Amino acid sequence: MANPMDPSILDAIPLPALFVDSAARVRGANARALKIQPQARENRPFILLFRQPGLNSAVETCLNTRSPQEAVYFHSEGPQELRFQVSCAPVDGAFGEGALVCFRDITELRQLDQMRRDFVANVSHELRTPLTAILGFIETLQGPARDDSAARERFLATMATEAGRMNRLVGDLLSLTKVEEDSRVRPTESVDLGALVQSVVRSLTPLAQGSDCTLSFEAPATALCIPGDSDQLVQVVTNLVENALKYGGHGTTVSLSLDRVDRDRSLRGPAVALAVADDGPGIEHIHIPRLTERFYRIDGHRSREMGGTGLGLAIVKHIVHRHRGRMAIDSTPGQGSTFRVILPCS
Ligand SMILES: Nc1ncnc2c1ncn2[C@@H]1O[C@H](COP(=O)(O)OP(=O)(O)OP(=O)(O)O)[C@@H](O)[C@H]1O
Ligand SMILES: [Mg+2]
Repeated sequence: MANPMDPSILDAIPLPALFVDSAARVRGANARALKIQPQARENRPFILLFRQPGLNSAVETCLNTRSPQEAVYFHSEGPQELRFQVSCAPVDGAFGEGALVCFRDITELRQLDQMRRDFVANVSHELRTPLTAILGFIETLQGPARDDSAARERFLATMATEAGRMNRLVGDLLSLTKVEEDSRVRPTESVDLGALVQSVVRSLTPLAQGSDCTLSFEAPATALCIPGDSDQLVQVVTNLVENALKYGGHGTTVSLSLDRVDRDRSLRGPAVALAVADDGPGIEHIHIPRLTERFYRIDGHRSREMGGTGLGLAIVKHIVHRHRGRMAIDSTPGQGSTFRVILPCS
């Protein structure tokens, strides 16, 4: 019979690992393995500990054929289901013949893979809709509407709108990639937020007037400077104000405020808080945590109609993270929404 495996060897393996003898009984388990299965004590049959046929048969085959085997093992940890890639390798050492079973947690890898696939699917879908429209119009212009000059004007205008949407989408995607790339480098430029917000308000006033909305902002009396990237901060304020105007509805008021906070609890220091509040229809609570996900829109059809790509708040979130700040969204259906961005002063 195999000797118990030297525990220091198993403990040195940076993965949950255990050693089973040729009769598939546990001869040693490191602390990481005991976290997955606290019963994995000396002499316990492996098959009774990890009751998943795929894993058990991999261990058995490994012991019988003396060849390495792979299996997948699922483990529930609280509400989360973890997925492990398990490798079984035949071992024949001073501690006897058996197999070394190592668990590699691939939950996150799988999630990332899923996110990447969802992302590609979303981008393709978002691009395909306007592209299909443009192709349809080209066909019509080449055929039935060839000599119809009124139709040509109309179709060209729609094609320009659709092409504009694709252009915006690509622009937003590039901007998202750029913010993600820069995310580790904290911006150092000193930015006067009061002046910056004021200039965004000025440039969006015509848009507000177009939908009968009022933009209200009182710039603070003294400069509120923070280390920041002014282009990116303009993007943040623009996105939030545009959303408030787009989703707040006609004839509403969008109020902006900018205040110094002596000490923000979660940022653990002095900060500046920007709030953009609208008195529109508000947002149901279930949507709030998901608003900053890429392509998440409450009413996809409506947002698309307004030229939205669903990337605005995802970009805002990344920019705020890059500035080591935080974001908070408060909303009660029927009573408007307030989007807050809190940025550290130093
Ligand atoms: N002030 C608001 N009131 C109500 N809903 C909002 C508000 N701001 C955002 N939303 C909702 O959040 C969704 C996501 O917003 P986001 O800015 O990320 O995308 P978008 O506005 O649809 O597109 P884009 O910003 O790329 O033009 C919107 O589609 C809308 O449903
Ligand atoms: Mg938006």
